Amino acid sequence: MKRKILVGNWKMNKTMKEAIEFANALKDKSIEVEKENIILGIAPSYLCLPIVQKLGGSLITYAQNVHYEESGAFTGEVSIPMLEEIGVSASLIGHSERRTYFKETNETCNLKLKALEKHDMNAIYCVGETLKEYEEDKTKSVIKKQVLKGLEGLSEEYISELTIAYEPVWSIGTGKNASKEIASDICKYIVDVIADKYGDEVASGVYVLYGGSVKPNNIKEYLDDEHIDGALVGGASLKPESFIEMIENIRG
Ligand code: 13P
Repeated sequence: MKRKILVGNWKMNKTMKEAIEFANALKDKSIEVEKENIILGIAPSYLCLPIVQKLGGSLITYAQNVHYEESGAFTGEVSIPMLEEIGVSASLIGHSERRTYFKETNETCNLKLKALEKHDMNAIYCVGETLKEYEEDKTKSVIKKQVLKGLEGLSEEYISELTIAYEPVWSIGTGKNASKEIASDICKYIVDVIADKYGDEVASGVYVLYGGSVKPNNIKEYLDDEHIDGALVGGASLKPESFIEMIENIRG
């Protein structure tokens, strides 16, 4: 059976001082994640990555983004070798805020995933439809395109170790979480799309997370579902008490 995954995406929140306070609060609660059969991760800002690496115990640290080139004239960007050097081994790719505000496309996400594969680094590839697409009943066609285009040219081995997060844009930070039925249906659909293209064995290794207004009081409902392997959480991952409550509720 797969272990459940809980990853907090801090987005553009927390100074270094606040990140230290968070890491210390987790330590004080002596969260023994390994024992609990839950994989825990945090995606902090680039600046806070070394802090979470150092103080976060067995928390996996994720970058929130990478550039696909190794180096060069790309002002304001951070490359994979830079992250590798500080021990970061995974990154979010294609979060809807990156797609919306920074014009990332399935094609640029694909370049980033290929670059991560080249460096043996894992990814959480984010997909999800907008409210308009949801209302026009286009969810599955949008998701299929995001998955197939994003994964184009990756090895089957890499795909079989990939994590994909289904985050409907209309549910992010809005308090309007997708029902468990919708989340379950789309998470299963993502695996089916991969199985159709790459076969059941490859698809069976993929982890699929749900994200969008996940909170301590609803996380268990999602994670109890057989098609949802974990959660990618924004707002509710910012306070250590709420992060800890989610861990406790998953166990519960
Ligand atoms: P919220 O949990 O704040 O809705 O954000 C979800 C998200 O974007 C995680 O990547």
